[in-house]
Amino acid sequence: MQKALCRSRGPSLGWAKDAFSKFEHFAKFHWASEMPPCDFIPEEYKEMSKAQMLEIRKNYCNPMTMKVTYYKKPVYIHQGYMQWLWDVDGRRYLDLFAGVATVSVGHCHPKVTDAAVKQLRRLWHTTNIYVYSTLHEYAEKLAAHFPDPLKVVYFTNSGSEANDLAMLMARLHTGNFDIITLRGSYHGGSPQTMGLTSNAAYKYPIASGLGCHTTMCPDVFRGPWGGCHCRDSPIQTIRDCSCSPGNCQANDMYIGQLKEVFATSVPSRIAAFFGEPIQGVGGAVQYPKNYLKETYKLVRERGGVCIADEVQTGFGRTGSHFWGFQGHEVMPDMVTMAKGIANGYPMGAVVTTPEIAASFAKGVHFNTFGGNPVACAIASSVLDTIKEDGTQQISADVGTHLLTELAKFRDKYEIIGDVRGKGLQIGVEMVKDKASREPLPADAMSHIFEDIKDMGVLIGKGGVYGQTFRIKPPMCITKQDADFFLAVFRHAVHSYMEQR
Ligand SMILES: Cc1ncc(COP(=O)(O)O)c(C=O)c1O
Repeated sequence: MQKALCRSRGPSLGWAKDAFSKFEHFAKFHWASEMPPCDFIPEEYKEMSKAQMLEIRKNYCNPMTMKVTYYKKPVYIHQGYMQWLWDVDGRRYLDLFAGVATVSVGHCHPKVTDAAVKQLRRLWHTTNIYVYSTLHEYAEKLAAHFPDPLKVVYFTNSGSEANDLAMLMARLHTGNFDIITLRGSYHGGSPQTMGLTSNAAYKYPIASGLGCHTTMCPDVFRGPWGGCHCRDSPIQTIRDCSCSPGNCQANDMYIGQLKEVFATSVPSRIAAFFGEPIQGVGGAVQYPKNYLKETYKLVRERGGVCIADEVQTGFGRTGSHFWGFQGHEVMPDMVTMAKGIANGYPMGAVVTTPEIAASFAKGVHFNTFGGNPVACAIASSVLDTIKEDGTQQISADVGTHLLTELAKFRDKYEIIGDVRGKGLQIGVEMVKDKASREPLPADAMSHIFEDIKDMGVLIGKGGVYGQTFRIKPPMCITKQDADFFLAVFRHAVHSYMEQR
């Protein structure tokens, strides 16, 4: 680990002097806290200019790349270390989005980096037509993190690919075709998973999604039903409810919607139900406590298997459990994962039961990079690091602190409609006003979002209407980092409200 002074106002980076003096203005403002110190010194940036990168991005990259670029004034990233990112001008950012909930234990975590380097020197690539230790070590280690009978692992390169395979396995195993997902969900962008994804922004006008159906998302804040006891979170909605303990009328209504889908849209036998334990791209939407339990029962009665998409919620991010499904007290038949599995190295996996796995093995499936030796060595080190660094506990502690403090802002500011989530999977839904719950318009969202970035913090956006700020940092952040973000967030919301 490199050690030296590298504070937001620190003089140590000669090459970044101008940037720091400008940044000082953002990082320390009159009433908020100062960016927490960091003792890592990034390398001097000597590569391409910002103008050159933008030029190439515009002329040589598919326009999609520009379309998804965050911020009017984009962030040009140079280097990362744990929860910190530096841009090409030497500005330091607190990264609370982790490359979309992906950097699980910290950017370039020294232990994980060492494991990668060690493996890169030994063997970069071979495929699973040969037998090599890293794949087997990791498969056994990953399986040990699951309860019986979820013990059979298949590796992929991404979350979309894992979900593609889960769809295939479910159909092969059940002999049925139809799959149900929740509206507002994101399960991938491949032609197959586009059918599972239920968000118009990610849909194309092509024939896709045959056999894929949606049911109403049991969103207890935005949906037609919801109260103040529904969800498994330290924070409940601002809606009233007269339910007695253990009896959630909202849950009954949303389950009623699912029954309606069974009655009207699918054959009597179905292949699967796909659900994230907490919606990710959908904006950290949480369901009533018993929703998944009852849904799994109804799906199994119709011959379907239940699939938990843990691409965002896995690996301890929700704090209370290693897997998000455990917080719902359900046992899926299949679990898909990616993102945090390898701290940002491309990898995914499907874990299922021996019976379902056997149905898949009736044909032949080959995947050149699935279970790549470097990916497996990294993922194995990530599992060790999660344990050694206590990141699940950090998620629980820092996440609960963030949620509790954000809820105080919600009570104070009319445009903060909902604060929700568990651990470090947090959503802050912004509204025009609390009475209407109408989404805060895009220009207002983008104003606040840009301001937060200019003050040195990177967060994400999501929700069907782009109305929810998403906080999913590397799970190594501290309470001090959280307090810095809270000061920045409050300042951004406050100054937007004063200006409008
Ligand atoms: C819940 C969920 N499932 C699947 C995916 C697709 O993963 P990938 O982008 O690795 O294909 C994502 C990506 O954001 C996701 O959030």
